[in-house]
Amino acid sequence: MKELLRDSLACPVCSQSFTTQNDRLVCQGCAYSVPVEAGKPIFTRPPQNLIPSEKIERRADTGTPWRQANWKFLQQQISRLDADTLFLDVGAGRGDFASLFQNRPYLALDIYPYPEVDFVCDLTQCIPLRRGHFGAVVLMNVLEHVYDSRGFFGALAQLLKPGGALIVAIPFMVKIHQAPVDFVRYTEFALEQLGKEHGLQIETLEGYYDPISLLGEGINNLRWSVLPDVRGPRHYLGRALLYGIQGLAKGMSAVLGPGQSVSPQGMRSKAPVGYQVVYRRPVKE
Ligand SMILES: C[S@@+](CC[C@H](N)C(=O)[O-])C[C@H]1O[C@@H](n2cnc3c(N)ncnc32)[C@H](O)[C@@H]1O
Ligand SMILES: [Zn+2]
Repeated sequence: MKELLRDSLACPVCSQSFTTQNDRLVCQGCAYSVPVEAGKPIFTRPPQNLIPSEKIERRADTGTPWRQANWKFLQQQISRLDADTLFLDVGAGRGDFASLFQNRPYLALDIYPYPEVDFVCDLTQCIPLRRGHFGAVVLMNVLEHVYDSRGFFGALAQLLKPGGALIVAIPFMVKIHQAPVDFVRYTEFALEQLGKEHGLQIETLEGYYDPISLLGEGINNLRWSVLPDVRGPRHYLGRALLYGIQGLAKGMSAVLGPGQSVSPQGMRSKAPVGYQVVYRRPVKE
């Protein structure tokens, strides 16, 4: 187990430190204990209905336009923080963004024991971490998967040091994914409210606007969900028209270029693919 993890953990019952006994972590204060499996402390068991994700190697220029925008956003945010900033990547999954944290003090958690994470915990059930300990908490495409998303956000806010940053990416115009573990979409107004409610200031709030990728989503929907149920000549006519739309979308993409991450203020479009937000815990509260 990483030294960094040992220093960051605190008993969720009495806040004391843990010691290792055989294959368990045991609280020095109240004897609360959890198993350590394959080097990972397991604070909560994964939900039965969760379908684990496959590993996909990611880079700046792979995945959907939204994920590419996330890569750029996260890279920018990391580069702005001091070299000794301690990062906690919550819901890190298969470590798609892990390479961005190379040579940085970094811990990753998830509710599933993926090989890429340091420990397993659902923070809505227990919080086995020191309060006010992390320089930055990272939450990339996770908040929508947590049913008690407001309570969860509040738990993350408590983990930040004064002056610490909560870096969030959350989809908006994105279809249901990881069903049935997909619960909410937040507007920019709700994201602002969420910060206020938990004593965090908003440093940056941007939407990722990309009408062409939304068009692509509509085309995929027609191809895979609508046309298969249409029979006879209408099906063939529909397919021919779809090719036409696809060609037009490609042309439009060449004319308009890629999407952009910008402040929603003053944007005429009310359909961002998602939001990218940096919250700050004030130095003086
Ligand atoms: C869409 S994936 C995003 C993974 C990664 N952050 C990324 O962007 O590549 C959502 C992740 O959140 C995790 N997750 C869901 N509920 C969680 C919770 N309560 N606490 C921590 N992680 C959670 C899921 O297991 C999954 O790995
Ligand atoms: Zn304890």
